[in-house]
Amino acid sequence: MALVTTTEMFKKAYNGGYAVGAFNVNNMEIVQGITEACREEHAPVILQVSKGARAYANNTYLIKLVEAAVIECPDIPIALHLDHGPDFETCKSCIDSGFTSVMIDASSQSFEKNIEITKQVVEYAHAHGVVVEAELGTLAGVEDDVQVAAEDSSYTKASDVQEFVERTGCDSLAIAIGTSHGAYKFKPEQCTRNDKGVLVPPPLRFDILKDVAQRLPGFPIVLHGSSSVPQDFVKLINENGGKMPDAIGIPEYELREAAKLAVCKINIDSDIRIAMTGSIRQYMAEHPDKFDPREYLKPARANIKELVRHKLIDVLGCAGKA
Ligand code: G3H
Ligand code: 13P
Ligand code: ZN
Repeated sequence: MALVTTTEMFKKAYNGGYAVGAFNVNNMEIVQGITEACREEHAPVILQVSKGARAYANNTYLIKLVEAAVIECPDIPIALHLDHGPDFETCKSCIDSGFTSVMIDASSQSFEKNIEITKQVVEYAHAHGVVVEAELGTLAGVEDDVQVAAEDSSYTKASDVQEFVERTGCDSLAIAIGTSHGAYKFKPEQCTRNDKGVLVPPPLRFDILKDVAQRLPGFPIVLHGSSSVPQDFVKLINENGGKMPDAIGIPEYELREAAKLAVCKINIDSDIRIAMTGSIRQYMAEHPDKFDPREYLKPARANIKELVRHKLIDVLGCAGKA
């Protein structure tokens, strides 16, 4: 199967009460770990590339890696998506080079400016058979070179979404309901401890999600900043020379609930990075004499694969849906 857009994926996900995983890719091992899990679990998948990924790996290399995954996984739908497109030119460049989906993130602009920029991207994208994700509301955290402090983040106003979608013509919408980018989503003092002593962050704003869904029936909603920051890998990092104190993510049961509602795409990047880093640190600590990258990247790739398998089955609910 050739690369696909997300249109069919989202229709099925919305009606089936699950979400498709959108995983950021930056190198070959990450592409392989993700897509091998999706192939084995018969799951549709969105491979997404940020501005930072394009700067690091080069757009052509990333496209060719994703094309290789399409060849290796002929039975599952794969979409190639631009994550957090900062402007029209970047979106155009991705559309022209074969991406099937782009995000234009003008969420830091005024409502009117966001509409104007998004509409311009939608017109170009739709003319080329490409779909567009837009964003309304601001997430906290770090993405590319943009850092948004928690106090400057803002939940999506449900009353704005209908007008925004109608005037822009976007195909899916990322909303802010309390998720945030990176591995440090919450301060410990914002959290409470459950009976097992685990820190639990403030709950996501499901009231906003439900309100949005009611105003946009059948319309696919996207959640960014949805890594759960797996504590076993954080421990592995900290036990092997790393220092990631107070790394806290979104509880997976909340994401499972969101996937049953209007959320059709859930973005996961930090968890992959944490799994990869934990694996490499452990390997390095246990094998100080080794210097072959293939030896330490092999367990890293295997752990990414198992992490993604777990997400597909237990969090997104999209295993078996390809
Ligand atoms: O939302 C941001 C993604 O995690 C991409 O991160 O900009 O470091 O590639 P990056
Ligand atoms: P995380 O940092 O929570 O993995 O979020 C990734 C993301 O939203 C990519 O756009
Ligand atoms: Zn994001």
